[in-house]
Amino acid sequence: MTRVAFVGVGAMGGRMARRLLDAGHELSVWNRTAAKAEPLVEAGATAAATPGEAARGAEVVITMVADSAALQAVSEGPEGIAAEATTVLEMSTVGPAAVEQLQAALPSDAGLLDAPVLGSLSEAEAGTLQIFVGGSEPLLEQVRPLLAELGSPIHVGPLGAGAAAKLVANLTLLGTLGLLGEALALAHGLGLAGEPMWEVLEGTPLGAQAERRRAAVESGEYPLRFALGLARKDADLVADAASAAGVEVPLARAARDWLAEAEAAGWGESDYSSLIARIIGPR
Ligand SMILES: NC(=O)c1ccc[n+]([C@@H]2O[C@H](COP(=O)([O-])OP(=O)(O)OC[C@H]3O[C@@H](n4cnc5c(N)ncnc54)[C@H](OP(=O)(O)O)[C@@H]3O)[C@@H](O)[C@H]2O)c1
Repeated sequence: MTRVAFVGVGAMGGRMARRLLDAGHELSVWNRTAAKAEPLVEAGATAAATPGEAARGAEVVITMVADSAALQAVSEGPEGIAAEATTVLEMSTVGPAAVEQLQAALPSDAGLLDAPVLGSLSEAEAGTLQIFVGGSEPLLEQVRPLLAELGSPIHVGPLGAGAAAKLVANLTLLGTLGLLGEALALAHGLGLAGEPMWEVLEGTPLGAQAERRRAAVESGEYPLRFALGLARKDADLVADAASAAGVEVPLARAARDWLAEAEAAGWGESDYSSLIARIIGPR
């Protein structure tokens, strides 16, 4: 049993925290919108008034918030976790630069791993996330049993490497989605539709993605799992990290432009896969 502070119990964090609670860990929770922590408190977690209060006395602090501004808000200042934390597992998607900033905010003797996740709500619920871990291997071994409740941790390198790995993975996800949208738009534009169109796509490198998205495209229903605004944030992180590393990524920028355009049109709270519908346009 580990005393865990969970900071950020939104769609992903709430499900991950629930798994830890169900596995018998002692949990203190903080969420900006306190109501979202209530189901966890009813199930036995303790509600904290500030991120720092949640972290006080915890052996491990897990952060799972939207973006780097949110991570800074929960980490720094008199109410932040940095004032209290001993070991931090940063699991949000924030990119390597924010991980570096978090490290600078923590006391020098605090442990930190970046451990962002691949997989969505059902994987968070089932504990089958892929977890990309950056940082000290001995520290990972200490927290491995805890992370194993959430999924499969893979050590990918030093601090920041987990965040980097997540950007690489998400570039493929966002690029593929944008490309599938364009392929469908081109098919429609050239008069190809229905079964023949799907058959053509299924024999291409986009086959798995086409099969996965077909029901949503045909029904026009894109259930919310991962907000399009968060996907746009990830595309920005990819572009920024690539630019900092001197790497040209024009295809990533194109996917980013599609997401930004859809967000500006009011689709930011829809599931990111609805980007396909945005690209295809009204039919
Ligand atoms: N959904 C997915 O499929 C998925 C998969 C892999 C990774 N991720 C990543 O996981 C992270 C969480 O995603 P999610 O889907 O769980 O999003 P979400 O449901 O929108 O949750 C975001 C969390 O961040 C908090 N937050 C936002 N701004 C804040 C601020 N300024 N100060 C303090 N807290 C703040 C939110 O608090 P409130 O409740 O008060 O808004 C909420 O707890 C993101 O980095 C996302 O990119 C998501």
